[in-house]
Amino acid sequence: MIENFIYNKEKAEGEIISKVETHTPEIICPNTVKAGEPFEVKISITKHPNKLEHSIRYVDIFFVEKGRAFNPVKVAKVKFTPEYAEAEAVIKLKIEKSGKIIALAYCNKHGLWESFKEIKVEGGE
Ligand SMILES: [Fe+2]
Repeated sequence: MIENFIYNKEKAEGEIISKVETHTPEIICPNTVKAGEPFEVKISITKHPNKLEHSIRYVDIFFVEKGRAFNPVKVAKVKFTPEYAEAEAVIKLKIEKSGKIIALAYCNKHGLWESFKEIKVEGGE
């Protein structure tokens, strides 16, 4: 049900297409990491307006771990105060298995926007 209200690049159509570039979180991190070694993940939604009446209010970051019985793991939530805080965050992650990072950003006018990035653990599947 909620998936019907989450926008992304893949299912954007009509009016939504014009909002993709400014609302879809950019996920910057290595494609491959070592098991158990912390690495940085940067989430950026800075092309979006940053005004009191219209801004990215928060981003939730999830990890979908390969082979885990219940997914996803919510690894972080970062809230942004309009005008003072840019909608960008760097977190450190440590994973044991390959999977997928999902970022879900919330704009107070245009709802929820997701993007994802596959990440591989060296020597893993
Ligand atoms: Fe917006």
